[in-house]
Amino acid sequence: MQLPSLPVMVSVVLLLTACGPQKERIPALIPIPAEMKTLPGHFTLKPDARIAWTGGVGAAVSAETLVSELRPSTGFELSTTEGTDGDITVILDPASEWKSEEYRLTVKRKSVTLTAGTSEGLFRGIQTVRQMLPPAVFGKETAADIKWTMPCISVTDYPRFAWRGMHLDVSRHFLDMEFVKKYIDILAMHKINVFHWHLVDDQGWRIEIKKYPKLTEIGAWRVDREDKPWNSREPQKNGEEATYGGFYTQDDIREVVAYAAGKYITVVPEIEMPAHVGSALAAYPEYSCTGGPFTVPPGGVWPITDIYCAGKDETFAFLEDILAEVMDLFPSEYIHIGGDEADKTEWKQCPDCQARIKKEGLKDEHELQSYFIKRIERFLNSKGRKLIGWDEILQGGLAPEATVMSWQGFEGGIAAARSGHKAVMTPVSHCYFNIYQGDPATEPESFRGLLTLKKVYSFEPVPPELNAGEAELIIGAQGCLWTEYITDGATAEYMILPRLTALSEVTWSPAEKRNWEDFNIRLLKMMDRFDAAGINYSRGSFHVDMSASYDDSSGSIVLELTSEQPSPEIRYSTDGTDPSTDSPLYDKPLKMTEKATVKAAIFREGKMTGRISAKSININKATGMKVQYNIPFSDRYRGHGDRTLVNGINGSGDFNDGHWQGFEGTDMDVVVDLGQLTRITSVSSSFMAAVGSWIFLPRGVEYSSSADGSNFTPLGTATTLTDPADQGNTTETYFSSFPAVEARYIRVFAHGQIRLIKMYLKHLFL
Ligand code: ACM
Ligand code: ZN
Repeated sequence: MQLPSLPVMVSVVLLLTACGPQKERIPALIPIPAEMKTLPGHFTLKPDARIAWTGGVGAAVSAETLVSELRPSTGFELSTTEGTDGDITVILDPASEWKSEEYRLTVKRKSVTLTAGTSEGLFRGIQTVRQMLPPAVFGKETAADIKWTMPCISVTDYPRFAWRGMHLDVSRHFLDMEFVKKYIDILAMHKINVFHWHLVDDQGWRIEIKKYPKLTEIGAWRVDREDKPWNSREPQKNGEEATYGGFYTQDDIREVVAYAAGKYITVVPEIEMPAHVGSALAAYPEYSCTGGPFTVPPGGVWPITDIYCAGKDETFAFLEDILAEVMDLFPSEYIHIGGDEADKTEWKQCPDCQARIKKEGLKDEHELQSYFIKRIERFLNSKGRKLIGWDEILQGGLAPEATVMSWQGFEGGIAAARSGHKAVMTPVSHCYFNIYQGDPATEPESFRGLLTLKKVYSFEPVPPELNAGEAELIIGAQGCLWTEYITDGATAEYMILPRLTALSEVTWSPAEKRNWEDFNIRLLKMMDRFDAAGINYSRGSFHVDMSASYDDSSGSIVLELTSEQPSPEIRYSTDGTDPSTDSPLYDKPLKMTEKATVKAAIFREGKMTGRISAKSININKATGMKVQYNIPFSDRYRGHGDRTLVNGINGSGDFNDGHWQGFEGTDMDVVVDLGQLTRITSVSSSFMAAVGSWIFLPRGVEYSSSADGSNFTPLGTATTLTDPADQGNTTETYFSSFPAVEARYIRVFAHGQIRLIKMYLKHLFL
């Protein structure tokens, strides 16, 4: 994925209202059921409870599933018998009218009844039963001293969408079998029913194919450059051994498919084509246009020019062989063929591809891609399967039966639906969980942009411009997790949770049942469940966002503290100490007139619920002064305009935070007018590197001063010793001190590799 900038975080005006304790009595179910009525009293699950089942083998299996899901944490060896009079009774009733996956759950003081028309419906209901019990039920070890009670309730529940998906990229970083199963467990507890497994990409081929063993012997391994930033990793050199990677054997794949099937989750494999296949071409270069050679790239590649040759029939034979093995392993109705981000440069130059264009009467390379996808679709359809691909498969004409996965926005899904095709919505703006979920300064390195929990929760998969018939073709929505910056399972969990929790409600619950405030109350219980299950997650939504602005008229800095949390109790300090329950309660924006470090956090019932946010206010002699730009700043990275560099506010880790200003080209050259002769002894300026976004530190900075604005005398220089390839995401301060001078104008000249710069001056003394 390579995308332009994303929207910045939306702040929320604080509402200080009380959350009633009566909410505690309502079970914290996520996703919220379609219909739910609370009843008085509780049911208590005892060690001698009997689980009865009726309605055939599906009911018996579901009863066993319930027992095995309750066993580890309760330690209860519950017995199952055929019948209708258990303490808990599981009923399979296919005769009645049921919506797909529907179940009904009634909890009374003395008995629990779970009924559905399918064992799939029963399984979704079992997930609700677990959430009715104390969070400790999600633990793997027997929990002592827990009373296993459920509030009495009547639930009728069914999903809004048929496709409730979550994707996982295992190419950019290979994640092992144990984690893949844990990921499926997480999906199941959220009533997600599609696991989209991204098994192929440039940086690794992860599925064993018997007919083409080199796909994993060669394609699954790359040189280890994990110590370097993703987008500046040198390709494999001659003689270097490829040691980093991994793959799933066909037995592993079968195990995952069966494990997911046990949780009524369909695994949809993605076998990328025609591009994002550097790993495959490293193994079999004969299916490229050029013949290679290729190596598996150890990091980012852009643009994606390595591509299968669409002119050679052998390419299609190769792909059909692969897909035949894939279809033997995956019983899913859909096979995902990728189709995204294919740069057609090679096709333009390849005689075979050009001959194909001519022979088939195609207009251009877009139509050649369409030919490619249609030909693959015919093969899949001939085996009774359906093709799904990223929205680029619309280019040059959509294959007749294809379903579109709309990622670049909503447009692909809209275009698909308007032409009578199905679509799954996974727009980057709401569904890419590899994007930062909070301030980059405190989050693990991620894709640029910001996708907050609240934004995910606000997602409406059906675009309003579709009519009712077209809207029916939006079969669901999906979260995506690309793993360029994710090397281990714990980080993957942290990135998807709780955003997947929000998405589960978007995809399962009726739209009118969604309520952000109520969701946040239920989310706290969900987090207790994650804790019990040993699942990592982000508390980013309990983060205080600090937004500072420079007030020209008063020369002060106004600091606003906000949070996505409804009714947050924010406490803050200005002396650098950590805030506590004794710290002042934030109720209105803070007016800052002096240097300070402000720290703030959210508290709830006497405890800090998230992390501490901090912001340095750096008021100094340059603050608010006039800046003359000898080289203009980039319009794309303008910060808040002319005074951005001297607003006295340190930039955060996010270069879109309004406090950084960017310069595209080679140099930066600005002059700060202090208004009068001023005695200074040092100057410093801060710069950012974000190599993934092609933002580099300057090689060096020259400071000079002048009394009249035309004759400048050097003050000092500061340089960086950091190699561009090692810069990653960092901020560096270029400091220079010197014998005191009297000056009115300070010139700052930075020599780049620069694309983005934040500069401010400090330590200026009269
Ligand atoms: C994608 O993110 N390239 C589908
Ligand atoms: Zn070709």
